[in-house]
Amino acid sequence: MQIQELKLLNFRNYERVCVSFDSNLNVIYGKNGSGKTNLVEAIYVLALTRSFKQINDKTFIRHDTEVTKIEGVVKGRYEHTYQVLITNDGKKVKVDSNKLTKLSDYISKIPIVLFNPNDLKMIKDTPSVRRKYLNIAISQLDVLYLKQLNSYNKLLKIRNSYLKQMYLNGNALHDYLEVVTEKLVVEGLKIYEHRRNYIAFINEQIASIYERIVGLGTLQVKYTSDYANKSKEQILEMYAKNLSRDLSFGKTNNGVHHDDICFSLDGKDLKDYGSEGQQKNAVISWKFSEMAIFHEKKEVVPILILDDLLSELDMEKINNILSFIQENVQTFITTTEIEKIEYLLEEKTYKKIHIKNGKLEEE
Ligand SMILES: Nc1ncnc2c1ncn2[C@@H]1O[C@H](COP(=O)(O)OP(=O)(O)OP(=O)(O)O)[C@@H](O)[C@H]1O
Ligand SMILES: [Mg+2]
Repeated sequence: MQIQELKLLNFRNYERVCVSFDSNLNVIYGKNGSGKTNLVEAIYVLALTRSFKQINDKTFIRHDTEVTKIEGVVKGRYEHTYQVLITNDGKKVKVDSNKLTKLSDYISKIPIVLFNPNDLKMIKDTPSVRRKYLNIAISQLDVLYLKQLNSYNKLLKIRNSYLKQMYLNGNALHDYLEVVTEKLVVEGLKIYEHRRNYIAFINEQIASIYERIVGLGTLQVKYTSDYANKSKEQILEMYAKNLSRDLSFGKTNNGVHHDDICFSLDGKDLKDYGSEGQQKNAVISWKFSEMAIFHEKKEVVPILILDDLLSELDMEKINNILSFIQENVQTFITTTEIEKIEYLLEEKTYKKIHIKNGKLEEE
């Protein structure tokens, strides 16, 4: 996949932008606060209609304006024009001037893998943040997953509110709870399968990638789930056993909504023991694994965005990371330190884009 041209209207600090990109490597540079992340965020929003930052869509709209429009010409097997329009009332998407009513039909058309320093949250933050990362990665591979996730969450809400009702009203029907629980387990198992398979794919890649970047250490991702290694019947038994606890809490204490992943380096949890650099390289290794999975499972090559990757890493690691950049992968790198990059990319051809005060200068 290649994004050939990007047009922005009132997106964050950009009033109007029309820029074309190199099919392989694009280096975006400029000072802090100049708009580098905003530009790659626009590409991400074009692909997924939402940001990689956990923020409200309204923040995309340039201050003192009402509407933002992101448009891009993207070439995969065919060439299409994609458009995302965001107002205070919501968002609309189009492909080649055809409106799509369901966002889920739009998402996953432009595969994308992005690294941003915020992604260290994947290691440092709470399980719910890690599940979000996992959900985005899997839903890009399989649209069905997003639908299953939605129906699981709906069933969970129904079950939780019925538990509260049962707690207050001794006459509430147990049969209804059983029906809901069974449905929940059926959907939950689908999600569990997706996640287990995905982590297994990640583990086929991640150790060798990490080793190539860092030189030493065995990296592995561990997946924990209440559903692990259980049949449907065993899971239903688990719910039956925990019913009184669920009733007194007024919520479902077990299920894939508590799943978690852990990055383990030489058997030790990186969250507790890893250095900043080790954590960053682990997340980057995950991202390159994502790229490989896309290629293998969907036979597509995603767009790769490396936002502010270079800060805090030593030259050797950066050089090793840059060696992963392949000619068939359209890659965007943002940096404040263009000299560093120029030095390391001496033998490559690439497009340089300088950002200054919300204006792009193509070189
Ligand atoms: N909705 C908006 N309207 C106008 N300006 C905005 C909006 N949202 C963010 N900005 C501005 O965009 C700028 C930040 O841009 P961005 O995060 O892309 O910088 P950057 O070049 O990535 O910087 P760094 O090197 O520090 O990562 C800030 O000056 C911020 O005020
Ligand atoms: Mg930035």
